[in-house]
Amino acid sequence: MLKVVVGLLLALVLALMLGSYSSSGRRAQLRASHAGDMIAAWQGKELTNIFWAVQVTDIHVSKFLEPERVSAFESFCAESLAIIQPALVLVTDSFNIAHLSSINNYYRKYSGWQKEGSFHYIHQTPFGNYSFICVDATLTPGPKRPYNFFGIIRKDQMQKLSELAVESLRSNQSVWFGHYPTSTIVSSSPGIRQVMSSSVAYMCGHLHTLGGMAPVLHSQHQQGTLELELGDWMKNRRYRIFAFDHDLFSFIDLQYDEWPAILITNPKSALYSNPAVEPLKRIQHSTHIRVLVFSLDPINSVKVFIDGQELGEAEHSSGPLYVLEWSPETYINGLHEIKVQVKVKVSVTRSSVPASF
Ligand SMILES: *[C@@H]1O[C@H](CO)[C@@H](O)[C@H](O)[C@H]1NC(C)=O
Ligand SMILES: *[C@@H]1O[C@H](CO)[C@@H](O)[C@H](O)[C@H]1NC(C)=O
Repeated sequence: MLKVVVGLLLALVLALMLGSYSSSGRRAQLRASHAGDMIAAWQGKELTNIFWAVQVTDIHVSKFLEPERVSAFESFCAESLAIIQPALVLVTDSFNIAHLSSINNYYRKYSGWQKEGSFHYIHQTPFGNYSFICVDATLTPGPKRPYNFFGIIRKDQMQKLSELAVESLRSNQSVWFGHYPTSTIVSSSPGIRQVMSSSVAYMCGHLHTLGGMAPVLHSQHQQGTLELELGDWMKNRRYRIFAFDHDLFSFIDLQYDEWPAILITNPKSALYSNPAVEPLKRIQHSTHIRVLVFSLDPINSVKVFIDGQELGEAEHSSGPLYVLEWSPETYINGLHEIKVQVKVKVSVTRSSVPASF
């Protein structure tokens, strides 16, 4: 009986957290109002106008609990990242430290950035600039649970975030990231969701998978920004690969050490589209289906299926990119399901999670 009540309560909390999100009417409106659909370049067969990156969250390094958590993370950094070769890695963990100069502040010692507080990093490529804005809503110094279930953004911190948002408008796309989902951030005006509304996505962690009750916590703000919570490293060994391909955003949430990893970047998922900022028309002008395949073993074949029918075998372009010519106009109406099947030399077959476009 108690379990049921707790279960219902959690479900209610979850409903409250996700309640104010996505409405399809609002999205249609965004799509109609989006004027920036430039089609000067579109997705062909070359490894150009594309980069990919990794997110990992809630690592919970501990001297006392589960040493495999740390050794597996070491292998992830040394081996998995060597295969994926991401342009950058976002770590959205927050720490239970006594003060910022504490020796337990691993962020200061091990991160590329090393400074605390919100910041703006621009990833520069020959084909465009991409903004990554970190939202630091942690309390200083981090008090013990349960108080740090919520993050806070004060007025002066909000002012700084607004300035970073304005700076990022010069970039092709921007991603915001932080530890806390926006539903657990108490922020001053104009509010955390408003300040990040020009970004394609906000990536965070913190809720883990709510004890298995919510294995997938993805949603969309009214303004169009995707909010993508990632399951924890601590118990569930999750990580995410995301990509920008011709300024279209795609991602896949994965389990550590399960290979091959498959990310379809064109056509991108309809469910995870942000019509307010993505040049979605490019999909209609694209000549090739594009898939990133990361594998420990040599790849035998990469097959593409649409609506259950085999479309053909994708050819290797370069790096992790596989491409297959297609006619997007065939699929202009309605939703379609795409699936990619990869066979590797050690006779393992793996399929991507079917996605709609
Ligand atoms: C990035 O933005 C620049 C300037 O607007 C544009 O020329 C370029 O084509 C964009 N890159 C991509 C991949 O769309
Ligand atoms: C990226 O930003 C730099 C520095 O502001 C600028 O010089 C460059 O033209 C930008 N690149 C693109 C492709 O927009």
